[in-house]
Amino acid sequence: MELLIGQVLRFEGDPMAEGPAAARHLVRGAVAVENGKVAAVGEAEALRAAHPGARVTDLGRQLISAGFIDAHVHYPQTQMIASWGKRLIDWLNSYTFPTETGFADPRHAADVAALYFDLALSHGTTSMCSYCTIHPASVDAYFGEARARGMRVLGGRTCMDRNAPDGLRDTAQTAYDESAALLSRWHGRDRLGYVITPRFSPTSTPEQLRALGALWAEHPDCLMQTHLSEQLDEIAWVKSLFPEARDYLDTYEAFGLLGENGVYGHAIHLEPREIVRLKEVGAALAHCPTSNTFIGSGLFDMAGMTAAGLRVGLATDTGGGSSFSMLRTMAAAYEVAQLRHHPLHPAQLWWLATQGSARALKIDAFVGNIAPGMEADLIAVDLASTPLIAQRAVRAESFWEELFPTIMMGDDRAIAGVWIGGKRQR
Ligand code: GUN
Ligand code: ZN
Repeated sequence: MELLIGQVLRFEGDPMAEGPAAARHLVRGAVAVENGKVAAVGEAEALRAAHPGARVTDLGRQLISAGFIDAHVHYPQTQMIASWGKRLIDWLNSYTFPTETGFADPRHAADVAALYFDLALSHGTTSMCSYCTIHPASVDAYFGEARARGMRVLGGRTCMDRNAPDGLRDTAQTAYDESAALLSRWHGRDRLGYVITPRFSPTSTPEQLRALGALWAEHPDCLMQTHLSEQLDEIAWVKSLFPEARDYLDTYEAFGLLGENGVYGHAIHLEPREIVRLKEVGAALAHCPTSNTFIGSGLFDMAGMTAAGLRVGLATDTGGGSSFSMLRTMAAAYEVAQLRHHPLHPAQLWWLATQGSARALKIDAFVGNIAPGMEADLIAVDLASTPLIAQRAVRAESFWEELFPTIMMGDDRAIAGVWIGGKRQR
């Protein structure tokens, strides 16, 4: 057994509903880790006394938390992050599709997957749900790398059979067949989960959406991820491609792609019926605030969506998002909510990046919080990681005031330690 000692932050409820009282903070706490799982959490002195034989790692004032969970990311877009000057459809055509074409080469896919996981872990992100590309090798590279690192990750082959360049289009049948083969190869293996992944309705024919809806019906325990109502031009395009649809969500609903295991990225410009249907089926949303400002998409309505009872996770959406850091992503979520006159509390921001994302991805029984029996995917956060943050944190009169400068100004320099399944990675 190992005892990690430091400040500890965990949750016993949902701070989006209950406020900061749902959080539990210990100034001098400890997490007992055994066989890859959390065995106990509590006051440091009490746990030391209860486990005198445990190896002790004293992290001082560093904050021990569940690792961050990125609810929506495109690992193949790692190398094109921060590409200038385009809005969604032009951005896809100018930068994204050419970049994703490179994943036809399995060696390139393996190289980028390794780079991606190195960067994600250095930013304290221990689980994620990623889009791969249309190439099965991009999925094998992703899951192979995650498996070698012992990580709990989700992802799937991105399907497109129209409005994409040569080399990035499949058909309804090959999307079904290759997704099904990858699903049976990877889903449920070790800590991995396959996610059925139509990119978004403009790049899928009705036949392809129907085929992937059928695949989901055969594997209802899998997640399904896609994009929804990200940008106004995109929504107009969807309406022209699917004139019979009631709204954007209906282009998924009509083909069996709406359900409680669905995770819908962005969801900024929803119509009232779409919100009602998402809630009725119990679907989840992925909030991608750095992407939504970087690509110029709009201001997600966090207060409205959580009041409507929707599960919401926090996501980088890199390379549309402009940072790998879930701290930067929390800061962007705070700023976007401020523009909507709704200041998110630090407890809410931290919860969104951990348990909120875990709930959206339905992995909250395993990761996203610190509690006995949960997998020990943990991070230690330095709350004074730069001189600017340090001089602000030292003036704090409460834990939340000490934490907030790191949320607003922190990045990978704040990540002092990362544990996967109880094993220290850095
Ligand atoms: N919509 C369809 N594909 C994408 C993508 O790769 N990134 C973002 N941000 N939106 C999308
Ligand atoms: Zn995306």
